[in-house]
Amino acid sequence: MGKRIAAKITGVAGYVPPRVVTNSDLEKIVDTSDEWIRTRTGIRERHYAEPGVASSHLGTEAAKKLLVAKGIGADEIELIVLATVTPDMLFPATACLIQDRLGAKNAWGFDLSAACSGFAYALTVGAQFVGSGTHKKVLVIGSDVMTSILDYTDRATCVLFGDGAGAVLLEPAAEGEGILDFSHDIDGSGGENLYMPGGGSLHPTSAETVAKRMHFVHQEGAQVFKYAVRRMSEHAVNILERNGLSSKDLALVVPHQANLRIIKGMQERLGIEDSKVMINIDHFGNTTAGTIPLGLMEAVEQKRVKKGDLVLLIAVGAGYTTGAVLMRWGY
Ligand code: UT7
Repeated sequence: MGKRIAAKITGVAGYVPPRVVTNSDLEKIVDTSDEWIRTRTGIRERHYAEPGVASSHLGTEAAKKLLVAKGIGADEIELIVLATVTPDMLFPATACLIQDRLGAKNAWGFDLSAACSGFAYALTVGAQFVGSGTHKKVLVIGSDVMTSILDYTDRATCVLFGDGAGAVLLEPAAEGEGILDFSHDIDGSGGENLYMPGGGSLHPTSAETVAKRMHFVHQEGAQVFKYAVRRMSEHAVNILERNGLSSKDLALVVPHQANLRIIKGMQERLGIEDSKVMINIDHFGNTTAGTIPLGLMEAVEQKRVKKGDLVLLIAVGAGYTTGAVLMRWGY
């Protein structure tokens, strides 16, 4: 699968809705405690979108900030790849709504569904269009409004998630820069450990699917936890080894933020020091496709990454999906 892709990230931006919901706020609506949430997950607070604010809105805000920061016009964007599991609607694609709001009149685009690995998948897909020489400016966005599918009678899932979006610009890279390799796989046998059963063609929305709470996230937390630690570690080792590198060569790892203990488990297996691992689950929670670009945004803001640094993005999500992207930071 390994392949040199001549594409690099040349800008990153993120957007979270302003409303902050703390663990103590959740204590008022569900039988939980700040202490349990902090010690079992590492989360202190997360951001919630107001009713009527959807993934397209968060994704558009992130993309607008990126275009302003880069000083480029929306009409220069040629492709929009949007990762989301909470599209505004089943169709049309949320990428179309973002394209319209941005005024990206020369772009085509589509949505991609890979849950928490969505951003890593979308980055790899977007990079192929730069690598083929057909596209020079590709917008890759991860955006989710997880609160639209949370069940507040299930304390084991509703405390984990927040809303948020991030966007990066992909452009052609010089030799040795940008995305060096990617490693993705799916394992559909784990599908029912993390899913939303209702509302698709298998279980179309009906009074019964609503009564059975089928339009919410269902998760077998312990199963997903074990799978995530094991597969994130294996993918990280594999992608480094096949590029003749070790974890010591990494300047930064930006893992998907599902649970601080999952990240620590992977970190321990790889032997990477704290200063090289981006963690922001404490203030954003799990924003699904948003976690990695929001992590990149904060890493850039905190000057934790510079041109030429080796950076690893890594995620496991519903599906199961797993994704790792290895790159030399491009700016
Ligand atoms: O991004 C997508 C991928 N998702 C993930 O990676 C999530 C992976 N899983 C996890 O992060 C963890 O499994 C959870 C955070 C979901 C759960 O943590 P856990 O340590 O696996 O807890 P558990 O499910 O084994 O539950 C332990 C106890 C149970 O009580 P009993 O049966 O031992 O009395 C739960 O009922 O904790 C209880 N519990 C809670 N207590 C207070 C579960 N959720 C809560 C809660 N507040 N919110």
